[in-house]
Amino acid sequence: MKKVKIALLGLGNVGRGVYIILHQNKEEIMKRSGYEIEISKILVRDLNKNRGVEVPEDILTTDFEEILNDDSIKLVVEVMGGIEPAREYMLRAMEAKKHIVTANKMLLATEGDEVFEKAEEMGVMFQYEASVAGGIPIINGINENLTANKVNELYGIVNGTTNYILSKMELEQLDFDSVLQEAKEKGYAEADPTSDIEGYDAQYKLAILASLAFGTKVDINDVYREGITKIKPIDMKYASDFGMSIKLLAIAKDDNGRIELRVHPTMIPETHPLANVYDSFNAIFINGNAVGDLMFYGRGAGDLPTGSAVVSDIISILRKNIEVENQNPIIRNNLWEKQVKNIDEVESRYYIRVTVEDKPGVLGQITTIFGSNRVSLKSVIQKGRKNDESHEVALVLITHKTKEALINDSIEKLYDLRTVKDIENIIRIEDFN
Ligand code: NAP
Ligand code: HSE
Repeated sequence: MKKVKIALLGLGNVGRGVYIILHQNKEEIMKRSGYEIEISKILVRDLNKNRGVEVPEDILTTDFEEILNDDSIKLVVEVMGGIEPAREYMLRAMEAKKHIVTANKMLLATEGDEVFEKAEEMGVMFQYEASVAGGIPIINGINENLTANKVNELYGIVNGTTNYILSKMELEQLDFDSVLQEAKEKGYAEADPTSDIEGYDAQYKLAILASLAFGTKVDINDVYREGITKIKPIDMKYASDFGMSIKLLAIAKDDNGRIELRVHPTMIPETHPLANVYDSFNAIFINGNAVGDLMFYGRGAGDLPTGSAVVSDIISILRKNIEVENQNPIIRNNLWEKQVKNIDEVESRYYIRVTVEDKPGVLGQITTIFGSNRVSLKSVIQKGRKNDESHEVALVLITHKTKEALINDSIEKLYDLRTVKDIENIIRIEDFN
């Protein structure tokens, strides 16, 4: 049996998963890869931290140079996250002819070109399956198995933390903050959970997926982003009354060569398969012009599911000849130049919840504004006053399909009405047709 030495950069949630899988499934991994894998070094910040796994003390280090200068280490697994020093370490490891496996979507979505070019220049293999949707084989799915297709559209629930939070809010009527704490404890959330709840994590993942699916470079700044922090239990309740669920969707559509890229909370029919993706599960629904509709479903976060993708990438590298250069098929994402639509141009239906003064004529004022902006209303629902003393009521408006720019203009005009107390929430509705 051949032996190979590898190093991990990071032993947090994902690093732990990788460590456990490499030990628990040692026999299977040896047979499948043809190698006995030895983790010879692990880079961490704090040597004394309890990590939930028994790791021999002598393999932990805080000095990256020990890994870089050890020629017997052939492969480096970057699971530390963030841009720096992860970027610098990966570039230097590649210059030292070490193959790379990473789970770092933030880096790939923002500085991806530089690391891919370095892998090409040095002829080393570079795998990143775990960077999107944890254990779901979506990167290889798109890069290997869907290349016969022109991808028309892609809808993803690609953030486990927010899906966990929205699921608990919907099914157990729990409040946002307590559920976020649970997601952190389960190891789903990023080191800074703002990245999850404000949609940045999903934005990175959508940029990676769309660039592969559409064969085009995607600038992260062209991906529209909204998080889930404005979603209230009452929105969940209304959605349910309308036969809908609220999900944080990452949406990419190719509209005759112009693409839409957006991440935002979305009301979707509860009959759609994505509506039944709960907990930290992720799913990516893709339509290809040959294959039709496809859905990939699985755990999108957590130590073992993410570790599964990382270790599979390691095996995939070992199955090739690691001593020979240029074994990686370079997947180009600059095959086509595609213009990205501004969010103002996007068409959707909208759910708009407002608080208004409960007095005659208010409804008329509001519907006149939408009418004058050529926004057609499908329904208007008024619920009773909060209590006898209150002079305010909640109005929920559902529009027909319309351009975002017209909605924004209508909203600005609503703010000018003295009878409109607040625009509480606006959520796009996706009908999938
Ligand atoms: P984490 O729990 O915060 O672990 C990060 C690890 O990296 C820790 O062991 C930390 O060391 C080490 N580290 C960080 N900065 C370092 C530095 N400057 N020098 C040395 N060591 C450093 O993160 P994670 O959840 O495992 O995520 C790791 C990566 O996987 C990220 O790119 C993340 O986006 C991605 N990812 C995560 C998941 C998930 O479910 N968590 C899923 C898919 C992808 P100490 O422990 O000593 O502080
Ligand atoms: N924080 C991420 C999530 C981890 O919740 O999906 C997986 O990338």
